Amino acid sequence: MTDNVCVYLPSGFVIENAAEDDLDEIASLETVCFPKEPWTRSMLAEEMHNSSALFVVARKAVRSADEKGPKGQIAGYLVAWLIPPYECQIGSIAVLPQFRRKGIAAGLLRVLCGSCSLHEIQDIELEVRVSNTAAIELYKRFFFEITGVRKNYYQDGEDAYNMARLGEDPEGRTMA
Ligand SMILES: CC(C)(COP(=O)(O)OP(=O)(O)OC[C@H]1O[C@@H](n2cnc3c(N)ncnc32)[C@H](O)[C@@H]1OP(=O)(O)O)[C@@H](O)C(=O)NCCC(=O)NCCS
Repeated sequence: MTDNVCVYLPSGFVIENAAEDDLDEIASLETVCFPKEPWTRSMLAEEMHNSSALFVVARKAVRSADEKGPKGQIAGYLVAWLIPPYECQIGSIAVLPQFRRKGIAAGLLRVLCGSCSLHEIQDIELEVRVSNTAAIELYKRFFFEITGVRKNYYQDGEDAYNMARLGEDPEGRTMA
């Protein structure tokens, strides 16, 4: 997706498009957040060049307005595939443990919902481990519902829930 993203969060983070020189940092974040099945650097690089992928990072907003100086540390990221007119699938969303419960994942999902609106996509789908309470609660806040179960979906044999946010929520909100 060529959407140009730059969204400041009140917590001092900025959500922006991922860049090639972010890949090492995101790959290391993956190994922390998904120790069982992390995406590799080459998988991430592939998504960076995938024209259907929205690939954004949330980083500490430490740069001056003229974008000089080092970039802030990456706290989280999101990859989703947007295939207008109907489909959006969340590929990955993660936030480093020390930055959790600050609204970063919610910020990433709001950006995704904005992109989906822009491209007139109403339905967003994903798979999540049945044991992943944090993620399931997060998605429920965004009006996702459990729509099915995929048995033995993950390499370690755990099942996945299919979750979907079907259609615009009636009041146009992105989070309950
Ligand atoms: C799931 C994850 C992305 C949430 O990131 P986060 O930045 O901490 O989430 P937010 O702070 O934006 O949380 C927004 C809301 O989601 C819900 N939520 C988030 N974490 C939760 C938890 N541990 N327990 C219960 N609810 C939780 C809450 O409703 C929260 O709102 P609140 O803090 O006002 O109560 C993060 O825990 C993570 O990276 N986990 C490992 C990777 C992962 O499992 N990704 C999802 C794969 S499907």
